[in-house]
Amino acid sequence: MLVVHVVGTRPNFMKVAPVMRACAARGLEQRLIHTGQHYDARMSDVFFGDLGLPPPDVHLGIGSGSHASMTARCMLAFEEALGRLPPPDWVVVPGDVNSTLAAALVAAKAGLRVAHLEAGLRSFDRTMPEELNRVATDHLADLLLTPSADADENLAREGIPAARVVRVGNVMIDSLVENLAAARARAVPERLGLTPGGYAVLTLHRPSNVDDPVTLSRLLTALARIAERVPVVFPVHPRTRARLLDPSLAGRAAALRLVEPMGYLDFLSLTSGARLVLTDSGGLQEEATGLGVPCLTLRENTERPITVSEGTNTVVGTDPEAILRVAGEALERRGKQGRQPALWDGHAGERVVGALLR
Ligand code: UD1
Repeated sequence: MLVVHVVGTRPNFMKVAPVMRACAARGLEQRLIHTGQHYDARMSDVFFGDLGLPPPDVHLGIGSGSHASMTARCMLAFEEALGRLPPPDWVVVPGDVNSTLAAALVAAKAGLRVAHLEAGLRSFDRTMPEELNRVATDHLADLLLTPSADADENLAREGIPAARVVRVGNVMIDSLVENLAAARARAVPERLGLTPGGYAVLTLHRPSNVDDPVTLSRLLTALARIAERVPVVFPVHPRTRARLLDPSLAGRAAALRLVEPMGYLDFLSLTSGARLVLTDSGGLQEEATGLGVPCLTLRENTERPITVSEGTNTVVGTDPEAILRVAGEALERRGKQGRQPALWDGHAGERVVGALLR
């Protein structure tokens, strides 16, 4: 059996690594295709080393651009790359980024079987580009590999036959479980002069937050207030760095401890020692639940509601007062405790391979 995995952006790498490892353990032949949607060393290369991923067999080099141009270039390049491979039994696409949808569409039209890893998540917010990618990819896929029961329910409501859906659990948590000890050994908080349990970690990159100067300004007002109480460490995504150059924002941004984007192990070292996490990322909401660290989601909704109902996450939106209230609770150690959702146990990758083989 030949399995082709398609990755493109930072949040894809830690989802595919455990699946590739489980495929190798079962002796399956596999190829890794990197679309190149993320291309900076800090957004891509370092993750291959940290996660023990093999170098990509094919690199499509699509780079950045508008949604249409990125998706279109990815489709053309992926179609050509597929044509040079023996026909795969499965094309596995993770997550919800533009590369995910482009690869799913090409593979489905080529008559190949598509497995969507992290299927069924819904924010019900169609202004979010990822929501459109999620819905379209799920409806193209032959096998929908879900992390939680809410995802199964979303798919049933959209009329996707239950026979196509397999709940495998959370592959991102597989990577966390596998790498936590090695990450902690890196002692990133100590290297940054931080006291474990005495700082906050911030990430921000969603267009709805960083491309709108009014929203970004409100967020920075709240974040600068939190930084009066504890250091707020902010590894800055390239999209966000460009926005922070605006002179009207630079003053408040200076209250935060801006650092370059980190690799997987360094960032896990940082988050595992944090008092709280503030983020608009999807994956980090899950990692905070996995680590038992209180998380404030700086968005109006989440496609990962189980991190709220069972985990450590609170969706606070972008209102400074709400952010300060919930952050204050976490700083006073009254933050959400949470528990691990079912099947977030470090073995999701093996269940994925079981489903592919069946
Ligand atoms: C993409 C995903 C998003 C995911 C995020 C993780 C889509 C629609 N969005 O958003 O779901 O949460 O990745 O990081 O697929 N850039 C660089 N170097 C890079 C990559 C990007 O400098 O390696 C800059 C470019 O200026 C680019 C901008 O960042 O225009 C945004 O990159 P893009 O891939 O469009 O989307 P992300 O915001 O990274």
